[in-house]
Amino acid sequence: MKKYNIALIKGDGIGPEIIDEAVKVLDAVASVENFEINYNEFLMGGCAYDAVGDPLPETTITGSLASDAVLFGAIGGEKWDNLPREKRPESGLLRFRKELGVYANLRPASVYDELVNASSLKTEIVRGVDLMVVRELIGGIYFGEPKGRDENKGWNTMVYTRDEITRIAHQAFKIAMNRDKRVCSVDKANVLDVSQLWRDVVTEISKEYPEVELSHMYVDNAAMQLVRNPKQFDVILTGNIFGDILSDEASMICGSIGLLPSASVGNKIGVYEPIHGSAPDIAGQGISNPIATIASASMMLRFALGEYKAADRIDAGIKQALKEGYRTKDLAQFDAKEVCSTSEIGSIIANYAAKCKL
Ligand code: IPM
Ligand code: MG
Repeated sequence: MKKYNIALIKGDGIGPEIIDEAVKVLDAVASVENFEINYNEFLMGGCAYDAVGDPLPETTITGSLASDAVLFGAIGGEKWDNLPREKRPESGLLRFRKELGVYANLRPASVYDELVNASSLKTEIVRGVDLMVVRELIGGIYFGEPKGRDENKGWNTMVYTRDEITRIAHQAFKIAMNRDKRVCSVDKANVLDVSQLWRDVVTEISKEYPEVELSHMYVDNAAMQLVRNPKQFDVILTGNIFGDILSDEASMICGSIGLLPSASVGNKIGVYEPIHGSAPDIAGQGISNPIATIASASMMLRFALGEYKAADRIDAGIKQALKEGYRTKDLAQFDAKEVCSTSEIGSIIANYAAKCKL
């Protein structure tokens, strides 16, 4: 029987409870599809700081690098907001992404038919939306030097090199080749030199993908177009901070940020995580929505392990649960037949995923 090693990083807030549900669903499909997953837990974020004084212990990096993939929950919380920047949970996550070299963050936003009413936008605008934000993850203003602050001034620098833009652009064009073959590159080239380089390099790389239609959009316009007519987008290629913002915006097209998964890939080991944060305000109450994490586990099976049928099972299980009207609290107002706890909906999805006919 095939065996895989998965590094589990539960993190803070709702992280542990949503990861537990993803594991439940993974185990259910693994046994039907005849493979085994061995999990190793590692600390990152506030919990790691509390345990060992460092939001990213060395063992988390080495353990993750020795795995087939990383499944990650979420980090952060008010409790750690006043620590020096390098001790904060978010710094642990950023260093982790950098250490693993996961430069491409893939954030699909597709609307489940069963949830078209859940969007804050009109049904006819959102029905059928299926887009993918390809966000550069280990460069840009999140990492650029110089950065710092003193009493009266704070500064960060948005930097991209030709090589960094080239590799993320290739990712976006390759992904587009398997989708609707359209890439919209989002930047702020009317103001920023770094964006003009981005635009020039993306245009150059696009020549290697003649079948893909490339367009460019300024980020302010893109933010507006996303809520005006999201169906115009197939692949959105953009830098780190613009991608962070636009992917949160895209999640509301779909109804709840609790639904959107992501995959961060690069050199070798990928990190699979929901796009949402650790939601400390609702942690431990059993009301968080684990679907984004369960869908991230499906992306992990597909991209990292090549277990396509198991991934299809998870996707079908999520759809079935939504179709039957099972909803966590965030979606309770939208055609709920039954409002479920985090663990109840996890079990329902696991059950449907294991039993579904592919
Ligand atoms: C995300 C998050 C992170 C980011 C934070 C927690 C550092 O918002 O994954 O989108 O900004 O990248
Ligand atoms: Mg974000």
